Amino acid sequence: MPGLLLGDEAPNFEADTTRGKIRFHDFLGESWGILFSHPRDFTPVCTTELGRAAKLAPEFAKRNVKMIALSIDNVNDHLSWSKDINAYNNDEPSEKLPFPIIADSKRELAIKLGMLDPDERDKDGMPLTARVVFVFGPDKKLKLSILYPATTGRNFDEILRVVDSLQLTAYKKVATPVDWKPGDSVMVIPSLADEEAKKLFPEGVFTKELPSGKKYLRYTPQPNP
Ligand code: BEZ
Repeated sequence: MPGLLLGDEAPNFEADTTRGKIRFHDFLGESWGILFSHPRDFTPVCTTELGRAAKLAPEFAKRNVKMIALSIDNVNDHLSWSKDINAYNNDEPSEKLPFPIIADSKRELAIKLGMLDPDERDKDGMPLTARVVFVFGPDKKLKLSILYPATTGRNFDEILRVVDSLQLTAYKKVATPVDWKPGDSVMVIPSLADEEAKKLFPEGVFTKELPSGKKYLRYTPQPNP
């Protein structure tokens, strides 16, 4: 079964994009990376998603995350569609977006990366490329994957939020609780002993009492990443 699981290394594929040919590992370099796929060019939901992604590009750049999109049409279509995306954002209708779009007209990458949705099909009966988000770490390993069907647009603010969590938890022995936002308290990970937690988190560890008597709900103010 093709596809990528957490911890897998990103395949080092070659692809045509709106910025020329790329080798994926060279594209990623030492950065974090986000690859997000789309069912088709010139479709309404995809246009709104890429518009939002373009608006948020400076936020991803601040976090050292390289962005790249994928859609199953060719480079010329991508460039022409980019004008619509910029116009949707009320920007100059230029062919330039702050990230490249991979041309996967033969769906080779979509198949390799497990992106096709057998339940949703285009007018010719072909399976649509689902809305996948892959976040890769600087080690090129998959840190997060999100999979939405073509008919449900993603929330790019949420993607930024999970990048903040991934980058914090990659370097600190914490986990982020439900609905966490940057600046909120975080949880001490269960494998860390109380004594060690006290040393690691000088701002304090606060444990919530629970009916079980087990002391596992341990909060600490968010450490600096
Ligand atoms: C869209 O991007 O609007 C879309 C694409 C394929 C199926 C449904 C919606």
